[in-house]
Order: sequence, then structure tokens, then C-alpha cells
Amino acid sequence: MPDSPPFPESRPFLSWPSSTSPSSTDIQPREAAGSSSTALQIASLPPNVSIRAPTKVNVHLLKRINSLLLPVSYPENFYREILQNPESEALTRLAFYDEECVGGIRCRLETAAEYQTGLERLNTMDTHGGSKILKAVADHRANGSDSGSENHPKSKIYIMTLAVLSPYRSLSIGSHLLDYILSTAAKEPTIDADLAYAHVWVANDGALEFYRKQGFEVDSGPIVRDYYRRLEPRDARLVFRRITSPRP
Ligand SMILES: CC(C)(COP(=O)(O)OP(=O)(O)OC[C@H]1O[C@@H](n2cnc3c(N)ncnc32)[C@H](O)[C@@H]1OP(=O)(O)O)[C@@H](O)C(=O)NCCC(=O)NCCS
Repeated sequence: MPDSPPFPESRPFLSWPSSTSPSSTDIQPREAAGSSSTALQIASLPPNVSIRAPTKVNVHLLKRINSLLLPVSYPENFYREILQNPESEALTRLAFYDEECVGGIRCRLETAAEYQTGLERLNTMDTHGGSKILKAVADHRANGSDSGSENHPKSKIYIMTLAVLSPYRSLSIGSHLLDYILSTAAKEPTIDADLAYAHVWVANDGALEFYRKQGFEVDSGPIVRDYYRRLEPRDARLVFRRITSPRP
């Protein structure tokens, strides 16, 4: 692992204000991974990398990361809402290399009804895709590995943004950001979810491979037509992973 950030001289745009020191909600990702019954083996982070909760001081850094790396432009509201909604706060994390923000993840909690409505819309574009995901969740329940029921269906975690600056990739930062959400936040009583899913551009082979490595079902996921307006091809692949809650 490098002792200092790789290629710092080529990234003048990264000289952003430092964040405050880690808050009590910050975690050492290895501990979080160990707490999960679904945790995959993830390489350790370099010791100077930390995964931190969003704060008033650092939340704007997520916007910077996303604007640099993602093809979708998110409105101010997308960032403002993070600190206004406890669930959004719990499902957002930033990655720091020393005191420099180098990555982040932002997810949204969807009720089962919201998720179902989304899939029904999706079905109008791909008649098989949405039902494949529904079937995966139903199978999961039938196998007894999920405590949700038809009467009390569990929430879903939608991964809206996940990005790591390119000089800091392959340090397991993306894996730890995702693992935080799946291993820790998803087990919060107020969040308790049974599925995580995301849209990935069909030509983004790196991200698709990343999600495969994180235990997501990638190749069986549906294709969502015309999801991206600014990219060619415009289609997205829907990737998903079931989340297993520990039994009480
Ligand atoms: C996808 C992304 C978040 C991964 O971040 P990362 O910190 O490099 O991920 P990790 O280091 O945890 O990678 C874990 C494993 O995933 C796989 N992987 C990650 N990126 C990969 C790529 N571009 N090509 C092939 N495999 C890849 C590798 O097996 C990697 O392990 P390795 O480094 O030992 O080879 C990052 O590449 C990124 O920000 N991409 C641009 C934005 C984007 O596409 N976001 C996802 C769409 S929502």
C-alpha cells in the first residue's frame, strides 16, 4: 500500500477543506465487516483510510466526488437531504485518505411498496427483469433466510451513488464503503432491509465486475432501457444483492 496518496500533483482539484476529526459514528471498516453475517472477505484498508459519517462540514465533498465521476447530475436537494433525514444520514458515508475525501456512497431507503412500484415501471421496459428480482426475494424468504413476510415486507436499499477517485482505486475503499452500508447500516432496527440494488451503466465493465466481487447478482439482473440520457449506450444493468439479517 502506498504511504502517500498516489499522483497528488496531478490532482489540484482535490485541495478541499479538511473535515473535522472522525465522529463517534465513524467506524474502522474491518470491524464492521466482521459484524455481518453476509460479509465477504474484503482486503484491509490502508491504515490512513477512514470511512466517516456525513457532517455539515464534509457533506459538500461528496458532491465534488460525484460531479467528477458520475454521469448523472444530482440537485442540491440530493445533498441537503442527507443531514435532514436520519435514514439518509445512516446510508451515506465518505472515505478519507488522511484528511482528503476520496470517495463516497449515498443510498436511499425504499419501502417495499415504493420498490414494488419502481419494479412495475421497470417491467414496462423489461418484462422479465423486475420479476426476476422479485422472485429472488421470494426465494430468499421461502428458504427461511429472511424474517420479512408478505404482511411485513422489508425495506430495500437503493445505492444511488458510489464513487472513488481513480488514483485511490483498488485500495478496497469502494468495497468498504459498500460493506459499511450492507453490514452495519442495514442492521439498524429503523433500516432493516432485505435487498440492496443499483443501476450500473451497461458499458461500465469495471463497476459491473466490482459488484460481482461484492456478491451482487449482476448477469441475471434486468437491463433498463434508456436509463442514462447522456451516455451511449443509454441502458443500465440492475444489480442486486440480498441482505441476510441476523436472527434475534
Ligand atoms: C466502482 C468503484 C467504486 C470501485 O472502487 P474501488 O475502491 O476501486 O473498489 P475496490 O478496491 O474495493 O475493488 C474491489 C474489487 O472489485 C474489482 N474491481 C473494482 N474496480 C474494477 C475495475 N475497474 N475493473 C475490474 N475489476 C474491478 C476488483 O476485483 C477489486 O479488487 P482488486 O483491486 O484486488 O482487483 C470505482 O471504480 C469507481 O468509483 N468507479 C467510477 C464510478 C462508478 O462507476 N461507480 C459505480 C457505479 S454506481
